[in-house]
Amino acid sequence: MNAIVIQQPGGAEVLQLQQLPKPSPAAHEVVIKVHAAGINRPDVMMRQGKYAGSGDVSGMVPGLELAGTIEASGAAVTRWHLGDAVCALLPAGAYAEFAVVDARHCLPVPAGMSMTEAAALPETVFTVWHNVFQRGGLQAGETLLVHGGSSGIGTTAIQLAKALGSRVAITAGDEAKCEACQQLGADWAINYKAKDFEEVLSAEGVDVVLDMIGGEYTAKNLRLLKDDGRLVFINAMQGAAAEFNALDIMRRRLHITGSTLRPRSADFKSALAAEVEKHVWPLLAAGKFRPVIYKTFPLSEAVAAHQLMESSAHIGKIVLNIND
Ligand SMILES: NC(=O)c1ccc[n+]([C@@H]2O[C@H](COP(=O)([O-])OP(=O)(O)OC[C@H]3O[C@@H](n4cnc5c(N)ncnc54)[C@H](OP(=O)(O)O)[C@@H]3O)[C@@H](O)[C@H]2O)c1
Repeated sequence: MNAIVIQQPGGAEVLQLQQLPKPSPAAHEVVIKVHAAGINRPDVMMRQGKYAGSGDVSGMVPGLELAGTIEASGAAVTRWHLGDAVCALLPAGAYAEFAVVDARHCLPVPAGMSMTEAAALPETVFTVWHNVFQRGGLQAGETLLVHGGSSGIGTTAIQLAKALGSRVAITAGDEAKCEACQQLGADWAINYKAKDFEEVLSAEGVDVVLDMIGGEYTAKNLRLLKDDGRLVFINAMQGAAAEFNALDIMRRRLHITGSTLRPRSADFKSALAAEVEKHVWPLLAAGKFRPVIYKTFPLSEAVAAHQLMESSAHIGKIVLNIND
């Protein structure tokens, strides 16, 4: 089968199209004929060899999410049958014509949704559900601040939080990105290159912050939180170290948390898949949330797809179409 392989850690050009053997499933796994694979910023970090805990990435097939049809299933799999259309979360391997996945990490492709759209769901939806709603405990009527509002994660967080009754503020790096986020429902969209987000939001305050920036944002995020507010880290692209006032944490009973999805156990991901199917799949069916697809590329153009992601020019998701 055709697959994209990371030759060695480095720039986008280390992604190379190669022939690999088609995988076969263990008892609890399925093999999926991949129709589309979503690209995520962690794929870029993995390719660069900067993703903590990924080990030596040389020879690895990247790709954390896909959509396709069941090609083969292991003896212990009861839910899925040959030809079923599914999307799935996986620790690596989606940039390929076939991929092997834990059967419990598959969800049905939502009715009326293309394979391209379905492939853009698992990594972002699982991450947002766990961090905003499970860890951050966002409630209807509360205010969420999302940094990187136009990212794959951001466009998902805006729509889910609005669908569930929250107010949403976002930051993004230009006016077009801010406008796109407002069209998705954001109540405040702040171009951080033109305005200080802390100044804009200080009168309102926020209950939960979903942060991928870190660095000098950390103190500002904490100052914006209301009593019992929650700051949730999913990355720290501007820097992991930060200073903050511990007295503020005590005075306003703030919570600081965060997580990374990929290293979590298979059982944790199965439980999360069940929660996502229960709470998010009905929103997709009701048309209250739809992934934003910015651009698609064929598998052979994975290098260009990564270059686009690294340019940060995109709004929403970039997807590889495979086996079209
Ligand atoms: N912890 C987890 O489990 C988990 C899982 C998935 C993703 N993530 C993280 O969530 C974030 C979003 O992921 P994604 O796949 O949605 O990414 P993405 O679409 O590429 O979005 C990242 C956005 O971050 C903004 N940004 C701000 N400062 C940046 C910097 N120093 N370098 C690069 N971009 C910067 C850019 O928008 P502007 O140009 O508007 O600033 C960019 O569009 C990433 O940081 C990713 O690592 C975490």
